Amino acid sequence: MRQRAIVAVATAAFLALLLPATTEGQRGQPVQLPDGPGKDMVQAACTKCHGLNFISNSFGFTREEWPKLFGSMVALPRSDADAITDYLAKNFPEKPNIPKAVIIPGPVTVNFREWQAPTLGQRPHDPLAARDGSIWWTGQYQSRLGRVDPRSGAMKEFPLDTPNSGPHGLVEDKDGNIWYTGINVHEIGKVDPKTGAVTEYKVPEPARNPHTPIIDQKGMLFFTTQSGHVGRLNTATGEIRVSKTPTDGTYPYGIQVNSKGVPWYVDFRGNRVGSVDPVTMEIKEYPLPNPDARPRRLALTPDDVMWYADYARGSLGRFDPKTGQVKEWPSPGGKDSRPYGIASVGDVIWYSESGVKPNTLVRFDTKTEKFQTWAIPSGGHVVRNMMATRDGNLVLAESGINTVAIAEVRGTRSTAAR
Ligand code: HEC
Repeated sequence: MRQRAIVAVATAAFLALLLPATTEGQRGQPVQLPDGPGKDMVQAACTKCHGLNFISNSFGFTREEWPKLFGSMVALPRSDADAITDYLAKNFPEKPNIPKAVIIPGPVTVNFREWQAPTLGQRPHDPLAARDGSIWWTGQYQSRLGRVDPRSGAMKEFPLDTPNSGPHGLVEDKDGNIWYTGINVHEIGKVDPKTGAVTEYKVPEPARNPHTPIIDQKGMLFFTTQSGHVGRLNTATGEIRVSKTPTDGTYPYGIQVNSKGVPWYVDFRGNRVGSVDPVTMEIKEYPLPNPDARPRRLALTPDDVMWYADYARGSLGRFDPKTGQVKEWPSPGGKDSRPYGIASVGDVIWYSESGVKPNTLVRFDTKTEKFQTWAIPSGGHVVRNMMATRDGNLVLAESGINTVAIAEVRGTRSTAAR
């Protein structure tokens, strides 16, 4: 008995070495699947990249949804896929208590176009609207960047040099190079789209796990980290500096640069936001009034006011850096709607609710304080980030369904680009 336990632990440790590291999930304990036809196939086809606990802990899905979901991770012969679908739909049906999308009509029209990433199982984490009109994404679980031309639908992938680097966020510099954070390997990388050549820069200790990058007006790349630091990389020289937040144990998450060149970030592990002195790298923290607030991403309006997606409390927040004043609105999908990816187009805020089914795209007019919402056609499966294009559309990464999308906005004058 004792011996068997030791063998099991040793096997788990050995498997953990073989499996790629994750940043946002635990591999967890071995799972006993319920018996039934198809069980063996699930065990064979679904354990290559993650544990079966990903299936047992999931929200559960309908018979229609299961093949779309695992079809975005692995290509299987039709008969195997059918048997696996039967098994999963019977044993892991949609759980009853998932909040439903709340659709609010309004004056604006949105047209969604979605593209599945060529390499399966890569799960685009962040999207980027490049200046030439193309859409880029980070293929977090397959160590690559991808690009789609929305006019032709042509797609290209750019494999990175370091395996399992976990490309997480990405940003374009003035020369059209694409910079990304390699969250698993503590690096910032640069891809030259013309040649595909990759240059990597090590993030200095004690900073670890670089998360979201943004480039300021002068070509300085600022990035958040999971280790409670914010960093700065000079894109001309590659020089990197990191700075620790005043509070211990923070998790600087989304980051944006305001019109004066000052980076602002939100802290996903506390009820606070922060600003960074772009020259001295001194970090200042500002509390949000509700202790349970967990702002995950932010957008800035042209008046340099911060709008944040409060993931934990299902609300949209407004923080005025001049006065420190905070105002909040409950998100249409309710307290469990998990607002996540967010962007601004002029005075209009756009974000996605990742906790409702299907995920929504939400529009909030900061002048009239009115919401309008849309269901994302593919279901969205967690839009971890979004970004405005130059002409006021939105690009989205639909991580769980291995897809990137553009939401083309038509309607009112107030949607004009910044
Ligand atoms: C090529 C790799 C790969 C294979 C093979 C694979 N998956 Fe996944 N799957 C992933 C990745 C990557 C994640 C996200 C892991 C994380 O968040 O840490 C994931 C997550 C999931 C989740 C969690 C829900 C979600 O969308 O986040 C479910 C359910 C799931 N997989 C089902 C399956 C099933 C069923 C199979 C077999 C038919 C399968 N997977 C095979 C890559 C794979």
